[in-house]
Amino acid sequence: MTVTTMTVNGKSRSAPTEGRTLLVDFLREGLRLTGTHVGCDTSQCGACLVHVDGQPAKACTVLAQECEGAEVTTIEGMANADGSLGKIQQAFQDYHGLQCGFCTPGMVMAAASLLKENPRPSEQEVRHYLEGNICRCTGYHNIVKAIMAASGQQVEAVAAE
Ligand code: FES
Ligand code: FES
Repeated sequence: MTVTTMTVNGKSRSAPTEGRTLLVDFLREGLRLTGTHVGCDTSQCGACLVHVDGQPAKACTVLAQECEGAEVTTIEGMANADGSLGKIQQAFQDYHGLQCGFCTPGMVMAAASLLKENPRPSEQEVRHYLEGNICRCTGYHNIVKAIMAASGQQVEAVAAE
C-alpha cells in the first residue's frame, strides 16, 4: 500500500492505493466521488469517463498510481462554483438527455471533451464522438440534442427520431 496524490476537481486529494488499484476505484472508494460510474468490465461503456490532464480517459482502464500528480476532473467538477448545474449538465436536463442517468456522467464528460476540441460540432460529429459511450435508455437522440444545445446550436436542426 502506498499513498497516491493527485489534483481532483482543483483540489489536492490523496488515498491509499495498491499497484493494481484502478483510477475509478481510487475516485469512488478512496475519495467517495461516486458520480463516476462502473457500467461494464470490458472497457466499453464509458460510464467511468473522466479527464486526466485535460484528456478523456476511461477510469477503469487507468491505474491510480499512473495518475500520481495528475490533474483529474470528474463529473463532480462540472457544476458551477455556486453548485448549480454546469452548461452541459443543464442542457442534458433541458433536452431530456437522460432517463436512468447511469451513463450520464460519462456522457457529460465526453461532451465536455468534444466541445473543447470542436466547439460547434455537427450532429454527425457528436454521434461519432459518443461511440465509446453506451446508453441503454435514451436511444441517444436527446443526448445529441443536449450536446448541440450546449454548443449554442439550433437543436431543431437535429434530425427527428
Ligand atoms: S466501466 Fe469503464 S468503460 Fe465501462
Ligand atoms: S440514461 Fe440510462 S443508460 Fe443512459
